[in-house]
Amino acid sequence: MMYPLIAEINSSFRMLPDQASSISARYTNLFLFMCLVSGFITLAIATCIVYFCVKYRRRSPDQVGGRLPRGTWVEITWIVIPTIIAMGMYIWGAELFMVMNDPPPNALEIHVIAKQWMWKVQHLSGRREIDALHVPLGRPVKLVMTSHDVIHSFFIPDFRVKQDVLPGRYSTEWFTATKVGQYHLFCAEYCGSGHSHMGGVVTVMTPGDYAKWLADVPTGQLSSAQAGHMLFNTLGCVQCHGQTAPTMAGLYGQNVLLSDGRIVVADKDYLRESIVNPRAKVVNGYQPLMPTFDKQLSEEQIFDLISYIQSLRTEHTPEGNATRPAAAHKQSPPAQKRAGTEVQP
Ligand code: CUA
Repeated sequence: MMYPLIAEINSSFRMLPDQASSISARYTNLFLFMCLVSGFITLAIATCIVYFCVKYRRRSPDQVGGRLPRGTWVEITWIVIPTIIAMGMYIWGAELFMVMNDPPPNALEIHVIAKQWMWKVQHLSGRREIDALHVPLGRPVKLVMTSHDVIHSFFIPDFRVKQDVLPGRYSTEWFTATKVGQYHLFCAEYCGSGHSHMGGVVTVMTPGDYAKWLADVPTGQLSSAQAGHMLFNTLGCVQCHGQTAPTMAGLYGQNVLLSDGRIVVADKDYLRESIVNPRAKVVNGYQPLMPTFDKQLSEEQIFDLISYIQSLRTEHTPEGNATRPAAAHKQSPPAQKRAGTEVQP
């Protein structure tokens, strides 16, 4: 909840963006508190400077300042009180930072690819959109993002979330939308001449409307995991993985022992690296035989492959992370063509 007085002032003057996510109000309160504290200290110091300049000005050319008595309690006060205020802001901010960096495990995952100068969004159902993002109301949403070229930043002011999007790795940001409506989405990192046009609209829908929207995929369009499964076959991955190369079944999220003795978690970054640079982390007991797929696959295709590997974790994907059961990929005929043009297996 925002303080009633501040909410009143804000609605009159439109100083702040709308509050449309679960952390908006907490973020705003911290921001306003820091503004008030900084403003108060700035004002107090400025007032003291002016007042003392006038009151203690030199009145004759030979006037010399007197000695001040030592004020131990004054010193203790100006050390202790600002320390308490600063530590309070630090703890408040750190707690919020940790909440913002820890997506709930049941969050709905959506893939985002930044590109000069557009945002491409891939939903696990197979639905795709450009410069637009549809999300359900009241449900945590986790964006897994990467860039095709330079550094971008995914910013939704009304949700108070902003995260850099980098080439060659995944970054995440999460939010829970709390108000149905449309909100601006921006790129917040200068990324070239088209930077200022790199934006879009986030649409928050009721869960029912969202489920309908998500399921409305063109005929023949595969889900992300199904498209990944098809790629897995057509690229020939299936010929080695499970036999001379490690199996993908149940791999996602597990610890992996490498040939150099390190243990890493098979997360999205690990899988991505293993696709584009297979020799970076060789699994213990295997030869570094896999060819690189760097520059041969689009980021969309890499996401699809990872979705497929993720779907092999268990027979049922976490609720809502796919609109079709993971097992469905086994029934998709390989000859089925994607409706979209982005994946040409
Ligand atoms: Cu992308 Cu600025």
